[in-house]
Amino acid sequence: MGGAAVMSTEDVPKARCREDVLGDRSSRGWRWPGWSIVLALWAGCAPEPELTGEPLRAQAQALWQSRCANCHGVTGRGDGATGRSLDPRPRDFQDAAWQTRVDDARLRRVIVEGGAALGLSAEMAANVDLADRPAMVGALVEIVRGFADQARDRGMRETK
Ligand code: HEC
Repeated sequence: MGGAAVMSTEDVPKARCREDVLGDRSSRGWRWPGWSIVLALWAGCAPEPELTGEPLRAQAQALWQSRCANCHGVTGRGDGATGRSLDPRPRDFQDAAWQTRVDDARLRRVIVEGGAALGLSAEMAANVDLADRPAMVGALVEIVRGFADQARDRGMRETK
């Protein structure tokens, strides 16, 4: 930074080089309009880029509570207020045998396309708004998977 001020004649070749570097930088700067467009899209016009990491998990938890727990229950056992009155009832997500039987792809499909699409109860509604939010669907699948761990933890506590 500010190197040009101390430039002497011997420095000319180096200065050239420095200029090239600066030139490079300013051509990199040219991408700024592109980035502003990306930001503009981000702000309003395009689908929001998905959250990742902890914020994503937090949002998925909130979604679970507001949209799923009523049937599947806070702890995934299918014992939410509405879930209890359904026939068939949502299954117990803490069932370890079921957890190993079912693959993530199927869970993802049920969540996005709804139960009827996979021969399950139509009470399990589609969540079409999640079709373009694969990371959120993944985080919900993680929550469903997490209930198996809860069961394991409980089992360990109980056998102690
Ligand atoms: C109106 C009640 C209801 C709500 C709300 C609901 N589900 Fe379901 N869900 C069900 C029922 C009922 C089934 C299927 C039971 C069956 O047919 O075996 C099911 C099935 C599933 C399955 C597949 C289980 C399997 O056997 O393969 C997943 C995964 C699932 N739900 C996740 C979710 C998620 C995530 C949400 C929230 C975005 C949600 N559900 C909201 C009632 C509900």
